[in-house]
Amino acid sequence: MGSSGMTSTVFVGIGLLFTADPEREELEDAALLAEDGVVRWIGPSAHAPEADERVDVEGRAVIPGFVDSHAHLVFAGDRTAEFAARMAGVPYSAGGIRTTVEATRSASVPELVHNTATLVSEMAVQGTTTFEIKSGYGLTVEAERRSLEIAGQFTAETTFLGAHVVPQGTTADDYVRVVTGPMLDACAPYARWVDVFCERGAFDEEQSREVLAAGIKAGLRARVHANQLGPGPGVRLACEMGAASADHCTHLTDRDVSDLADSGVVATLLPGAEFSTRSPYPDARRLLDAGVNVALATDCNPGSSFTTSMPFCVALAVREMGMTPREAVRAATLGGARALRRHDVGILRVGARADLAVLEAPSYVHLAYRPGVPLVAQVWQSGRRLV
Ligand code: NIG
Ligand code: FE
Repeated sequence: MGSSGMTSTVFVGIGLLFTADPEREELEDAALLAEDGVVRWIGPSAHAPEADERVDVEGRAVIPGFVDSHAHLVFAGDRTAEFAARMAGVPYSAGGIRTTVEATRSASVPELVHNTATLVSEMAVQGTTTFEIKSGYGLTVEAERRSLEIAGQFTAETTFLGAHVVPQGTTADDYVRVVTGPMLDACAPYARWVDVFCERGAFDEEQSREVLAAGIKAGLRARVHANQLGPGPGVRLACEMGAASADHCTHLTDRDVSDLADSGVVATLLPGAEFSTRSPYPDARRLLDAGVNVALATDCNPGSSFTTSMPFCVALAVREMGMTPREAVRAATLGGARALRRHDVGILRVGARADLAVLEAPSYVHLAYRPGVPLVAQVWQSGRRLV
């Protein structure tokens, strides 16, 4: 027993350990010791130390818990009819967000907590141990504030996305004044991040810059919805403002790619959105070859990507975006951590949080090789069994 009363656990018989640690990314026949919630030792299974608890994973693969750095989980209602219409040929537009805004505003706090908890449990059984949650379906001062308060019950990675779309009955410029004024004042205490949907039909370059600048001034760090539906200024702006991450990155110029590479801004790719909007996927190969840091996330939301599954995103990234299985799993773990500027998660090395998933497979490659199969057998968070 450690002094905190937590037990130590040693995982032995790990057929293939994917650590996401660039120093030693893969180990065969490995063992890992977790103590007081953090990784204390990694080495050959034959040399595994003693611990209070011994878990023999019998040749299965182990990976770090997934880090889902982009999710919109606080909402009510769904958009089944919109999805069905889209699959019959109606194009996706950001306007659908307003449908969810209406349903979310009319929902009670317990309903929203329940809905969020349901999605969070879905994430857990699919191996996600760290996740971000955005507001953005309230779009009034109080509705945004309560969304963030709810998000904070589930994660420290809370993002103020008051600038998701312009709500009905106001102009973009008037709304930006609210977002950067009273809404930011009410929301900043509940948020770590500020985000803006910089896109035709949402917020233009200047409005987006104002939103990010105001958020940064209030002590938040920036991330941006950029270049999802068409080419635009979002990625350039993310680099200019020193954002942690530019998310979507579907339509990029060569300049966007070199800006991302030079600035170190993470390109967070969200293939669930292209899947569910039947759009061309972002070109991950182009980004990786240019030296850009790439993350994968679900973008879970009721409109453009109603999935909580990181394994699904890994499979799409490998099949459709030119990533190798190793690159995709790295992007879904270490990449997500980098997009959240976290050093304690998304990686299995001494001192990191003991967050890991045991796969019902001999290799992480199976996440792409066996798409749609529930391969996550066990999930451990801070050294405790979660699933
Ligand atoms: O990331 N792009 C903006 N927001 C979401 C879509 C939200 C919606 O359609 O409800 C996204 O894809
Ligand atoms: Fe999003």
